Amino acid sequence: MKLHSMLFGLIALGLTPFAVAQQPIVIKFSHVVATETPKGKAAEFFKKRAEELTGGKVKVEVYPNSQLYKDKEEMEALQLGAVQMLAPSLAKFGPLGVKEFEVFDLPFIFDGYADLHKVTKGPIGAGILKKLDSKGIIGLAFWDNGFKSFSANTPIRTPADLKAKKLRIQSSKVLEEQMRSIGALPQVMAFSEAYQALQTGVVDGTENPHSNMYTQKMHEVQKHMAVTDHGYLGYAVIVNKKFWDGLPADVRGQLDAAMKESTEYANQIAKEENDNSLEGIRKSGKTQVYVPTADERLAFKRVMVPVHKKMEGRIGRELIDAIYKETAFDPSKL
Ligand code: LMR
Repeated sequence: MKLHSMLFGLIALGLTPFAVAQQPIVIKFSHVVATETPKGKAAEFFKKRAEELTGGKVKVEVYPNSQLYKDKEEMEALQLGAVQMLAPSLAKFGPLGVKEFEVFDLPFIFDGYADLHKVTKGPIGAGILKKLDSKGIIGLAFWDNGFKSFSANTPIRTPADLKAKKLRIQSSKVLEEQMRSIGALPQVMAFSEAYQALQTGVVDGTENPHSNMYTQKMHEVQKHMAVTDHGYLGYAVIVNKKFWDGLPADVRGQLDAAMKESTEYANQIAKEENDNSLEGIRKSGKTQVYVPTADERLAFKRVMVPVHKKMEGRIGRELIDAIYKETAFDPSKL
């Protein structure tokens, strides 16, 4: 077909050549968990709202379950621009050289979501996200997941029950130290490899919020779980800075609005999702779920909280103190 007749055809269809040529802006959003998790659902919610609010100018492609990249690779892919958006766990920013994120890994530093939100919704959280700028990354939001339980194939009542056990952790020096504080042997491993490592006995146990354990079926290969709530796991939603800064201002504004809504949604569903997952684990009958008494939990707290002091050289005393002040946490009163 000759060019002028092709153009004529398009105009007859009510399409200008310009409209035909304009491709949507694609945001590849990669993550490592299942779609049926707080992060997975929030990513889908963002896709929907971003596409609606931009009137189709933006297309969001969500790749869950480490389908596209595993933990370490996804960070590299974002910096290279192979993907535009991620929401890695806060425990995975150390290897990027932004050690402050590991403050969220300090055991028992948040006594529930209300304490956590004083940090993630306030100036301390904003300051931590800002540290990413120098890495070519923009931190857009914090998304909640939840508080972690321990799992193993033997009962967990006291810290001594985890002694000499190989426990899978995320790539955080604070989590390494946390596991050492109870005499366990930390094994850093990508999330996508955790299930198989538990199944084959490469590791003896792990820690994670219930939504992650349940959707990865970890409870099917672990006989015991203790609801210790000993630490927090949540996310920072991040974008490639060059990509974000290069967006038309109106589109960026619409995406900001979609992100704001998605953050509210994520933080609204996180607790319930985790409660439902715990129920699912209980009902499966495969793992025995134990809820420690207040005294038993305190025993974990007493051995694990000294990790705060140990890690202050890495994270910064000032940052830890600022969080203590915000949440009225006093490590001397245990
Ligand atoms: C993990 O590796 O255990 C978690 O960070 C996975 C996730 O993204 O929640």
